[in-house]
Parts: sequence; C-alpha cells; structure tokens
Amino acid sequence: MEDPFMFEKIKFWKKTPSVTVDDETYDQITKLPIPEHIAIIMDGNGRWAKKRALPRIAGHHEGMKTVKKITMVANKLNVKTLTLYAFSTENWKRPKNEVDYLLGLPEKFLGTYLPELIEENVKVCVIGYLDDLPQSTQRAVRKAIEETAQNTGLQLIFALNYGGRAEIVDAVRSISRDVKNGDLNIQNIDDTCIANYLMTKSHPDPDLLIRTSGELRISNFMLWQIAYTELWFTDVLWPDFSESHLRAAVDAYQKRSRRYGALHVEESKK
Ligand code: FPP
Repeated sequence: MEDPFMFEKIKFWKKTPSVTVDDETYDQITKLPIPEHIAIIMDGNGRWAKKRALPRIAGHHEGMKTVKKITMVANKLNVKTLTLYAFSTENWKRPKNEVDYLLGLPEKFLGTYLPELIEENVKVCVIGYLDDLPQSTQRAVRKAIEETAQNTGLQLIFALNYGGRAEIVDAVRSISRDVKNGDLNIQNIDDTCIANYLMTKSHPDPDLLIRTSGELRISNFMLWQIAYTELWFTDVLWPDFSESHLRAAVDAYQKRSRRYGALHVEESKK
C-alpha cells in the first residue's frame, strides 16, 4: 500500500542539511569510522551556469575545480576510494559541443593537477568504456593510471563513459561465454562471482553515495555495487559543493546504523 506520508517524507529528505561543520566536528568525524568508499553523482553544473547566465560548459569547468577540491578533502579525511561519475553512457545524447567539452575535461584536469595528485599519493583509476573516448582523453587517462599505479593513498576512480546496466549486460555475456566454454560451473555463480565480472572487480562497494543538485535518482550508476550503500542527497549544485558539505555527508553517514538486512545484536537477542 502507498505510504500517505511519502510526499512529506521526500520533501524533508530533499532539504539541504545544515553544513556548518566546524573544526571540533571535524575532529569528531575523524574519530568515528570514515566511509572507506564514497561515490558521487556530480549533478547541477548546467544549473549553476544558468543561474549566472553562463554557457553550460562554464558549469562543467567549475565542476572540474570542485573535483580537485573534493579529492584533496577526501584524501585528508583518509577516505580510501572516491568514485566520481564524470560521464555516463547516456551523456552521448547531449549536444556535440557539450559532449566534446566533457570528454576533454579529464585531459584538462590531469594536465593541470597530475603532479599534485602524485605528490599527494593519489592513485588514479577508471571504470567505463575507455576505448570509445577520444584518443587524447585515453592517452591522458592511461598516463595518469600508469604514473600513479604505485601510489598508496586515496584511489580516485573516474567513471567515464560508464553505465550500470551496460556493465551488468557485459558481465552476463562474459559469464555465459565462460559457462559455455566450460571455464565456469553454473553452481559457482554467486554474488562474489558476479562482482568479479564487473568493471569494479578490484574495488570495494561504496559505503556512501552522494548526489548533488536535489535530484533523487541513481541514474544508472553502480547499480549492483550500491545494494547496501547509504544514500545522501543535497540540493547543493556540484560546483558549489565544498569541504563542509562532504563533512556533513560523512557526519550523516556516521549517525546511521548499517544492518545489511540483519538485526542489531541487541534486537536479535529479544
Ligand atoms: C551533470 O550535471 C554533470 C555531468 C554530466 C558531468 C559531470 C562532470 C564534472 C563535474 C567534471 C568532471 C571532471 C573531470 C576531471 C572528469 P548537468 O550538466 O546535467 O547539470 P544540470 O542537471 O544542472 O543541467
């Protein structure tokens, strides 16, 4: 049956939380477990630009600067993995000039910030269909992956030309092929086996998923991987997303209780 209060609840959920997190709270945050893997749907660049009567690509450019800022904050907070949804398999439907601009951003970003990422011990990784991207983007990304391969700090994963459904379709095809060839026994297909056929096979599932700009959707992002991920939404547009917003998201995460479908120990004793 439909929940009659659902609309009110969603309205409340959509409200941007207070983000004034001071240094005391920061110390508090780092005392409690930090989400090891944070994934972000960086939304709202276009609206940020529109509010300023600027072209949409100006919003994406500003969004790129936020990527740099938030990467450094996540590193400082000792987050182990940060996955950023930078270009989806559906984003090809946008006007050509916007697609070209978006696909040029990794090269721009890495051209400017790679030395600093190396200095900060950040390891760059990618999920998505890299081979379909412009050659210059591929070159820049592959160079960054190579040059940071030995780094042991934050893993910065760019989801580039990534789509959750396409990823699952490909995994199903590969599994079917391996079963047909006799390399995989049907009895051995379980959660772990499927996860190993995904683009994220060497990464843990996200603990916390953030989406900016007030939209309450997953938009084909890490569909398998977010089964037990905590979700946090904010009305803040991605170019305005700051250190204090990330701290607020982490703070909210730390106040939640993750049960993975089970009960708390005290509850299960009743
Ligand atoms: C969605 O906002 C955002 C994107 C499709 C692109 C996100 C990309 C960045 C933030 C920069 C990536 C940087 C690097 C280094 C790869 P939207 O344009 O749909 O915003 P709107 O909903 O307000 O129109």
